[in-house]
Amino acid sequence: MSRIFFYNDHEDCLEKLNSLIDENVIFIIDSKVKKLHPAFFKDKKSISVVSSEKLKNFESIEQLALKLLKLQVNRSSTIVSIGGGCIGDAIGFLASIYMRGVRWINIPTTYLAQIDSAYGGKTAINLKDYKNLLGSFYEAQVTLVDLQFLTTLPKKHILSGKGEEYKYSIISKHKYDEYISLSKIKKLQKIKSSFYKKDFFDRNDKRIFLNFGHTLAHALEKVEGTTKWSHGEAVFRGCDFNLFLTQKRRDDLPIKKTIDPKSINKLVSAMGYDKKNLKKIKFILLEDQLVVKEFEKKEILEYLKDYVSKQ
Ligand SMILES: NC(=O)c1ccc[n+]([C@@H]2O[C@H](COP(=O)([O-])OP(=O)(O)OC[C@H]3O[C@@H](n4cnc5c(N)ncnc54)[C@H](O)[C@@H]3O)[C@@H](O)[C@H]2O)c1
Repeated sequence: MSRIFFYNDHEDCLEKLNSLIDENVIFIIDSKVKKLHPAFFKDKKSISVVSSEKLKNFESIEQLALKLLKLQVNRSSTIVSIGGGCIGDAIGFLASIYMRGVRWINIPTTYLAQIDSAYGGKTAINLKDYKNLLGSFYEAQVTLVDLQFLTTLPKKHILSGKGEEYKYSIISKHKYDEYISLSKIKKLQKIKSSFYKKDFFDRNDKRIFLNFGHTLAHALEKVEGTTKWSHGEAVFRGCDFNLFLTQKRRDDLPIKKTIDPKSINKLVSAMGYDKKNLKKIKFILLEDQLVVKEFEKKEILEYLKDYVSKQ
């Protein structure tokens, strides 16, 4: 089980970090974060990487592994990754396979990573267009959350995390609000862990509830594109559709962006590509409790037409 510590500022976070490492350590850092928080990285032996989905592929992992080898990183070394969800997914994967697994400390720096992706041990890279298809279940031995990193995070990326927060507010029946605080981050981490701790390997259908809202969200990102839909906005819309399917829509949806009626057919086809939905289309519904329900594509087409006319 990963140990998780929460801090309000760099000073306290660094003190903890320094107590966890010796000289046999390598930092793999998001280059933007390194530039924006120079004091945090002073005198650290590091590799800088550009954070994007492009990092999450075989080629980048191979290049990084070769760099580690050159720097004589071995089985008793520690890798510290510092960045958002892309860095956590990719470097976690690398840490899990490099020499069959090395000690990994993760420091998430986006809101999405601090409330969601840094917990639960899912590491991943993409296989061509198939997002997160390759990966491992490998938890960071220690995760350090430092709120000060969020002071430089652009609004667009805050919104990505807010979409996931909205999902958590629905599946845990909490109120959603705009406010960000360390105590809220801790609360969201606890909610996530309540879903994965009994189903770490995603086998008994408990962990699947974390995918609430994502069937439509992923299809929107694919069909209407990530220029129109940030991940957070797509998740807000996806959650609203799941609530619509159970006739439990809420009135606190914080986005106005709507689905283009011309996209409906393509969206239903794109839902078929989700790796969690191989045959029929699975949706998570909020009945008295969360349930997974399978739909025929033509049923979803009708529901989606109705939803789009009422969005
Ligand atoms: N493993 C999981 O359980 C899980 C869950 C949800 C999402 N994910 C994955 O997370 C990824 C998205 O993560 P993300 O939204 O954090 O994106 P990201 O890692 O690409 O970061 C977003 C942008 O913010 C920049 N950035 C990071 N920290 C910053 C800071 N403190 N100040 C200023 N800029 C900063 C990055 O350089 C990047 O440009 C996706 O690949 C998704 O698949 C994984």
